[in-house]
This record gives sequence, C-alpha cells and structure tokens, in this order.
Amino acid sequence: MNILITGATGFIASHTIVELQQNNHDIIGIDNLSNSSIDTLDNIEKITKKKIDFYQIDIRDYDRLKDALKNHKIDCCIHFAGLKAVGESVSKPLEYYDNNINGTLTLLKVLKEIGCHNLIFSSSATVYGSPKFIPITEDCPKGICTNPYGWTKHMIEQILIDTQNATKDWNIVILRYFNPIGAHPSGLLGEKPNGIPNNLMPYITQVACGKREKLFVYGNDYNTHDGTGVRDYIHVVDLARGHVKALNAINNKCGVEIFNLGTGHGYSVLDVIHTFEKVNQIKIPYEITDRRPGDIATCYAKPAKAEKILKWCAEFTLEDMCRDSWNYQSKQR
Ligand code: NAD
Ligand code: UFG
Repeated sequence: MNILITGATGFIASHTIVELQQNNHDIIGIDNLSNSSIDTLDNIEKITKKKIDFYQIDIRDYDRLKDALKNHKIDCCIHFAGLKAVGESVSKPLEYYDNNINGTLTLLKVLKEIGCHNLIFSSSATVYGSPKFIPITEDCPKGICTNPYGWTKHMIEQILIDTQNATKDWNIVILRYFNPIGAHPSGLLGEKPNGIPNNLMPYITQVACGKREKLFVYGNDYNTHDGTGVRDYIHVVDLARGHVKALNAINNKCGVEIFNLGTGHGYSVLDVIHTFEKVNQIKIPYEITDRRPGDIATCYAKPAKAEKILKWCAEFTLEDMCRDSWNYQSKQR
C-alpha cells in the first residue's frame, strides 16, 4: 500500500516507517521538523535500504499539503504529527490547539479532496484521565484531561468519530498508546527530547550519561506496590508493529475502531530504575520528591481487543526497553 505518514521524522513515526517498509509498503512522509531532524531519513534508509518520498511541510498549510499530495495515490494515512509536551501545553494552550486540531482538520480536508478515506490516528491513554477502572479497556469512559495536550487528543478523537458518522466511506482506527519507550535495536533511531525531559525514560538516560545529576521520583506515597507511580511501558518497535497490523482493520472496512496499545503490565518508577541499573550496569542516583500535579497512581492497559482483532501483542520486555533506550542514548555522545 501507499501510506502517507504525517510527523514522519518523529520518534514513533520513524520506527513505524521501518516496520512498514519491511512489510513492503511505500511511504510518503510529511513533517515540518519542529521536533525532529532531517537526518532521521538517512537513518531509516540505513536500516531498510529504502527511500521515502519526503516533504517538509506544516500540515496546517492547506495549499502546500494539497499540492504535494495531489499526484500521489494514497491508500491510508497514519497521522502522527502533533505537539506532545504535556507541561508546555499548559503554558502554550493556543499553540497546542492550533497545531493539533487545525493540523488535523486541514489534513482531513485534503485527504477527502484527494479521495483517501482511510486514517490511523495516534491517540493516547491520557484520554482516560483518572481511569474509572484498571486494567483499562477501550470501554473505560473517557475522563477529564488534566492539560490542553490531552484535550487535543480527546477532541480529535471526537472529530474523527463525527467524520466517519457523517460519511460512512471513512475507515478510522484510533490507537491509544500507553507509555512508549525504548529505541530501534540498531541504535540509529530513538527519542531525542528538546531541553529537560518531561518523561521518565529520557530523564533516566540523561542521568546515566552524566548530563543530569539525579532523577527526581515524583512521589512514593501512591497506593502501588512500592508507592511510586505505575505505568504500562511499551517498546516503540512493538508499538510500530501495531500500526502495521492496524492496516488490516482498515482493509477490512472497519468504520471506526479504537484500540489500546499497551503490554498489559504495570511497572513502577522504582521497577524501571532498578531494571535499567541491572541491564546496563549503571547506577541511577535518585531523590524522592513531591508528587507531580496531574499524575495518577496507576495506568495500564488491557490489550485484549488488539490481540483478538489485530492479532497484535507486545513482545519486548522491560529489560529490552531499558537496554535499547540506553544503547541509543549512549551512541548520541
Ligand atoms: P515526536 O514529537 O517525536 O513526533 C511528532 C512529529 O510531528 C515531529 O517530528 C514534529 O516535527 C512533527 N510535527 C508536529 N507538528 C507538525 C505540523 N503542524 N506539521 C507537520 N509536522 C508536525 O512525537 P512522538 O512521540 O513520535 O509522538 C507521535 C504522536 O504520538 C503524537 O501525535 C503524540 O501526541 C502521540 N503520542 C505520543 C506518546 C509518547 O509518549 N511519545 C504517547 C501517546 C501519544
Ligand atoms: N516520573 C518521575 N520522574 C520524572 C519523570 C516521570 O518520577 O522525572 C514518573 C511520573 O510521576 C510517572 C511515571 O514516571 O509516575 C511516568 O511518567 P512519564 O512522564 O514518563 O509518563 P506519563 O504517564 O506521565 O505520560 C506519558 C506521556 C503522555 C501520555 C501518557 C500515556 O507524557 O503524553 O504517557 O500515554 F499521554
């Protein structure tokens, strides 16, 4: 299939392109490079020995987007492009709503005009807010989001559902990711956050390489096995493979389908620190500090629907994730 990838040079998209190319799909990529680098294209090519048709375009730019895509026959779009920093979204809400919502609206308009009605969307477990039950199934009611980033995912999901409701020839798969970490085992692709990392694993790898002195663990008084927050960490390569499988749902004319992409296992912050230390033989100094506002105690998926319908399940372990995250970070020095 010819697959359009928005946000193509980003963390999750780059890994997904590798998996798609290895399954003989052809890629047209779009990115404005606001949070990624053009070098990613060379690194993808080093792994797959295949090129992608790449356009440096902001998806909010209707004219340039339409112009770039009008001569391609696109079978499906996987829409990754978006701003994703939770904290930044609180201080820059208008930028987040503009980029994520207007970007998606412009993309949908262009896709409709070029006759592509198949879309896979990168959503997030953040839409569950403080989840009503654990493990989280897709039926768990959506919650109150604690930041504008989360609301953009919440709203985009609704826009997509309404679009498909109005015009039944759309097929839309919404993938709710849990906590993607890890990196490509080659060490050529991974996550490179700007500034001080917001997320746990990039912070740990920066402590491991000496860029930061110690990790601050946000609270050890949660109702979890060791008091620290529990999350469903998923290897980015497993996540990428979930997108390849989601194409089958699109081909089967699914209407709208929502899937959790997680492992079904919850690990605490201390579990992650200790596994990282054991696998990589590097001590991670840490200090317990106050809870981070907006954090919840526990969040992990029940991925049974993806297993049953997509025939997908995560295969990499937490040890693999810690090894590959460090392998990538250590090659950046
Ligand atoms: P990323 O920042 O690495 O990738 C996003 C890419 O989109 C970047 O390359 C950026 O330059 C590009 N982009 C942003 N706005 C754009 C625009 N207007 N036009 C064109 N390109 C634009 O992030 P990621 O971690 O790979 O996340 C990919 C998607 O998955 C995002 O939508 C994110 O919200 C979602 N998601 C990520 C996580 C996570 O923890 N990483 C969890 C749940 C959902
Ligand atoms: N944590 C620390 N110290 C840090 C960073 C994180 O103790 O320096 C803790 C957090 O308190 C939490 C756990 O590590 O208990 C994971 O935190 P992350 O920031 O890595 O991930 P979150 O679960 O808070 O959120 C992430 C993304 C969201 C996404 C969500 C679900 O940032 O965008 O996963 O997919 F919505």
